[in-house]
Amino acid sequence: MIIDDKVQARKEIENLKVYVPGKPIEEVQRELGLTQITKLASNENPYGCSPQVIKAIAEEMKNNALYPEATAPALSEKLSKRLNIEKDHIFFGNGSAEIISLLTRAYIRPGDEAIMADSTFPRYQSNVLIGGGLPIRVPLIDGVHDLDKMLAAITEKTRMIFICNPNNPTGTIVEKDRLRTFVENVPASVLLVMDEAYYEFMNKDDALDTVSLLAQYPNLVLLRTFSKIYGLAALRIGYGLMHPSIQTELNKVKEAFNTNRLAQAAALAALDDNRFVEDCAQKNATGRSYLITELEKMGLSCFASHANFLMVKVGRSGNEVFQGLLRQGVIVRSGAAFGYPETIRVTVGAQDENEIFIKALGQVLNQA
Ligand SMILES: Cc1ncc(COP(=O)(O)O)c(C=O)c1O
Repeated sequence: MIIDDKVQARKEIENLKVYVPGKPIEEVQRELGLTQITKLASNENPYGCSPQVIKAIAEEMKNNALYPEATAPALSEKLSKRLNIEKDHIFFGNGSAEIISLLTRAYIRPGDEAIMADSTFPRYQSNVLIGGGLPIRVPLIDGVHDLDKMLAAITEKTRMIFICNPNNPTGTIVEKDRLRTFVENVPASVLLVMDEAYYEFMNKDDALDTVSLLAQYPNLVLLRTFSKIYGLAALRIGYGLMHPSIQTELNKVKEAFNTNRLAQAAALAALDDNRFVEDCAQKNATGRSYLITELEKMGLSCFASHANFLMVKVGRSGNEVFQGLLRQGVIVRSGAAFGYPETIRVTVGAQDENEIFIKALGQVLNQA
């Protein structure tokens, strides 16, 4: 049946493109008939998750017929102790991506401006557009947020600022004293959303203790996730740390059961296995150094990454390099999607995956 002309979607989404995530392994296997695939496209954890998580999920499966507790009280309790923050400051989402959409849904009115880096995680822009708001994109300087220009971009209409630290896709961070000064200078009337999806990969010395700033800055929202270092991307669970009054608004616009039982049980167990997290951070740093060294040998450079991925300047079409790697069974992301057409973004994998990537990249670059 052809839909009636009068049944039209909202004009805010007329020109919106569908978000294209990293290609799933199964899709590449189907399309290219390859069996051996190395996926380094979505900044997932190459070491899976803690074995304790698998046990906890198996145990929780017996409750599959029951809806979860919406507020995830046990998880909230544990995280509150871990982060030394009141439980009423913790909000769980179906991935941290859901919290981005809830924030814009609750706060962005038509015509409101939201400041973000160019380039950064694309979901900020699309959610602001869906709400009828105006994304104000401030170019990065050598891959790093330009905080002075972002402050200067604030107007009467500014409702929200997004800082992605470390930044996806460049992996760069903002120097911590500059970040603190920025937080101090953002007007209290503007929501400052600090996306820290890759926080746990940073060196402790480089990381600003943003959690301790929440008490002083009620307009500050921190976003973190169990999808990356904890290896729970499939289960969709992340959290936001924020003033309870912001949560009151998010609770009005969220689905009742936005985080499921298995995800809550998994996250709870994941928090108990510090060793796994520390080990992953360590292996990631080693893998990242290996990749940087090998890329340098090929004459290639990257933005200074503090995360589990690298944005590599390939000096030619990132789309072509992406396609060439795909034909060899290696999935990365082309930087074109992020506004950097001569780059690719590659996730730091396990050592064997990193070696496969380096070898395949060498072949692709030699062929070109
Ligand atoms: C910067 C950033 N924020 C948020 C997310 C969303 O993560 P999730 O919804 O899995 O928690 C991602 C995922 O790649 C990301 O890179």
